[in-house]
Amino acid sequence: MKDMYILGIESSCDETSFSIVKNGREEIATIVSSQIDIHKDFGGVVPEIASRNHVKNVTMVLDECLEKAKMKMEDIDAIAVTYGPGLIGSLLIGLEAAKTLAWIYNKPLIPVHHIAGHIYANSLVKELEFPLLAIVVSGGHTELVLMKEHYKFKKLGGTLDDAIGECFDKVARVLGLEYPGGPKLDKLAKEGKPTYKLPIPLKDDSYNFSFSGLKSAVINLVHNEEQRGRKINKADLAASFEKVAVDSIVRKAKKAIKEEGVKHVIVAGGVAANSMLREKVKEMGEELNVEVIFPPMKYCTDNGAMIAAAGYYAYKDRRISDLYLNSKSNG
Ligand code: KG4
Ligand code: ZN
Repeated sequence: MKDMYILGIESSCDETSFSIVKNGREEIATIVSSQIDIHKDFGGVVPEIASRNHVKNVTMVLDECLEKAKMKMEDIDAIAVTYGPGLIGSLLIGLEAAKTLAWIYNKPLIPVHHIAGHIYANSLVKELEFPLLAIVVSGGHTELVLMKEHYKFKKLGGTLDDAIGECFDKVARVLGLEYPGGPKLDKLAKEGKPTYKLPIPLKDDSYNFSFSGLKSAVINLVHNEEQRGRKINKADLAASFEKVAVDSIVRKAKKAIKEEGVKHVIVAGGVAANSMLREKVKEMGEELNVEVIFPPMKYCTDNGAMIAAAGYYAYKDRRISDLYLNSKSNG
């Protein structure tokens, strides 16, 4: 079969990214323009500012990507784009860019769900094998997804309230860490021990998660100790929080692996960068004798390569859209 080069476009939050991927597996070139420095003074992403910066960046990032790949738009076979979920104003910029390019160069347009992108980031590491369990842990999602073949996703369960990344960021903020707090909390936790007793979330037989109780428990503990004039050991509290959050994910993943006869486990989304999660999921793989794949750090956070990789398999599944494609903030 002829090689297929897909241009992947991602703009769902505060990263503008274009990437070219060959046959869903081989990254040719990726450019990511991050707005972290712009938003950190606000303690989080400001949607209106994010979309304005996407507008500013979009053509530059595309040009840089083509230049790095030493390719022209004519060499591209199809255009894959995140249509949702995400910030509506941000999504629209990537989507309009994709539709315009698809129209001008007469290329197929492939809509990609952002989480499918995070899952397929792993196909840039190794060919996916089925049945596969995807542990999806991002700023907006916490889900266990079962796949028996390419591009068929069955959600086994998900969070009933906050996403794990959101919870990491809020706990980090109460510990005085700068946005985005997840990576900083990860670093701090390494210096501490899990000595604080925190409530174990949703200790039931479902595949669902709940993180808001855990988050509130940390916030209350910090406020109570402050009111009593007692000092908190921030590293120990970070380690305690991380342990409870990670354990709750691993416990439910183990159940899914055993009950669904899973052969391959992948971790997807920004929180896949977390050291304790990586360590515990690796241990789980050894214990249950299943292969575990993590995306390399550069594919954990939002990027166009994961969208291009997912786009290849979506294309093979004939998921091609017309130019009336619209973005959906809730996916
Ligand atoms: O997947 P992502 O880019 O966003 C969504 O698609 O929703 O993930 C971003 C999230 C943020 O909450 C960030 O704090 C978290 O991933 N994150 C981490 C780490 N690196 C990123 N959380 C814990 N430990 C990390 N090392
Ligand atoms: Zn993401």
